[in-house]
Amino acid sequence: MSGGEAGWPLFPDVSGAFTEEVTGARPVWQVREDDDPAKILADHGISGDWLKAIGFRGKARRAALIPNADGSLAGAVLGTGDGQAGDPCGPSELLLGLLPKTLPDGDYRLATADGEAAENAAIAWGLGSYRFRRYRGNGEDYGPRLVLPEGTNKARIKAIVEGIWFGRNLINTPASDMGPDDLEAAARMLAERHGAWLKVTTGDDLLAQNLPMIHAVGRAAAQPPRLIDLNWQPQATTQLKTVTLVGKGICFDTGGLDIKPPNAMLLMKKDMGGAASALALAHMIMALELPIALRVLVPAAENSVAGNAFRPGDVLTSRLGKTVEVGNTDAEGRLVLADALALGDETGPDLMISLATLTGAARVALGPDLPAFFTDDDDFAAAVARRGLTVGDPVWRMPLWRGYNAKLDSEVADMNNVSDGPFAGAITAALFLKRFVTKTRRYAHVDLYGWRAAARPLGPKGGEPHAARLLLATLSDEVLS
Ligand code: BES
Ligand code: MN
Ligand code: ZN
Repeated sequence: MSGGEAGWPLFPDVSGAFTEEVTGARPVWQVREDDDPAKILADHGISGDWLKAIGFRGKARRAALIPNADGSLAGAVLGTGDGQAGDPCGPSELLLGLLPKTLPDGDYRLATADGEAAENAAIAWGLGSYRFRRYRGNGEDYGPRLVLPEGTNKARIKAIVEGIWFGRNLINTPASDMGPDDLEAAARMLAERHGAWLKVTTGDDLLAQNLPMIHAVGRAAAQPPRLIDLNWQPQATTQLKTVTLVGKGICFDTGGLDIKPPNAMLLMKKDMGGAASALALAHMIMALELPIALRVLVPAAENSVAGNAFRPGDVLTSRLGKTVEVGNTDAEGRLVLADALALGDETGPDLMISLATLTGAARVALGPDLPAFFTDDDDFAAAVARRGLTVGDPVWRMPLWRGYNAKLDSEVADMNNVSDGPFAGAITAALFLKRFVTKTRRYAHVDLYGWRAAARPLGPKGGEPHAARLLLATLSDEVLS
């Protein structure tokens, strides 16, 4: 630790983005292209002349301030286009995330949104308010505040925004302050906050506890590798579904001895993005006390270069007993995940989900904003696809195509950790993981970027715990209804 980050809250306080104080809050009107903005304002006793004068017609993302006759600020309008232009193609109320960065300081309230749309709008506002200021501008000055809308689940809005800010903080913090020690401390802090139970297996204990591939990947780093095992269940213990999340916690990925070139290594502080998503989701589940017996497994390690690093050609014996030839030390994520998945599988949970920044191939296929989603369960895939669109946190399904299993054949071991060709890299990685899951009823895998490549209504460029909001929505539906 050094410099300006002392006392910086890794777990965020989102209260600077919201208020409960309705008095004096200025209205924000959402206006679609097919609405008459002047009429909407007239309904509220405000002249529409100003909007005519500036040619405001509800074009998506266009915002304008509305003056009172005396020159004071009456409120603001936000164009929402055809109603499907949110971040960039979800429900239009997600565009509310644009406003915290553009409106003058002060309190605002939603004039035109209720029910699910109001909840979405408030979440978007919260997500759009995020800034990463660990290393500059401490003691933040949060900007405009939104009145938490009546008739919404305010606790849920808060838990979701907190979870995402927390996940972003974890990813944005560079490896110098977010090594395996720090990731463990973050998980411990979260566990204490929610009364969860935490067990951590570190360094050579990984060998004693039969987690050999986590050890192999992380043993060359200054901070020892470990497996973080968080367990929680709500106070009322009726009808709990057992859900295990497994998040890739590679705090920095140099590639190992198969070292990455500079461009490919530059962003590899985000290689714990899967762990950040899992912890963000865990916060939401625990804060909202979903009826879930939750387990979060995070293999935390740095894929480093040193004399004791694991090597290309090494053969590792996995927790499951299957042997793995290391074809490439840069395919380290699947190695640490395989041991964690095998452990998670031993209790046969109802649902296990791995979340990982696993392959560049998934990004070639789907780009930065669409995580690849793998499962053999068509019902779960359909539920996830639908929810991704309603909350603006989409994933896209890719196949666990058995026909490509042979790409993982090895001449000396039960399997290789990479295929020998350039094709179907995201699928072969997912097939590799699936081999370590045998008893779990439903298994799903998310190959995510963990990073927002450009600023969007829902957040600035930088760390993004993809799929956490999506899975909260899906689990809430599945489990509660
Ligand atoms: N963490 C990377 C994958 C990655 C790279 C995700 C860039 C997002 C952006 C992973 O550990 C990795 O290096 N994968 C290799 C696998 C290859 C060696 C089979 C990759 O994708 O190149
Ligand atoms: Mn790698
Ligand atoms: Zn990696």
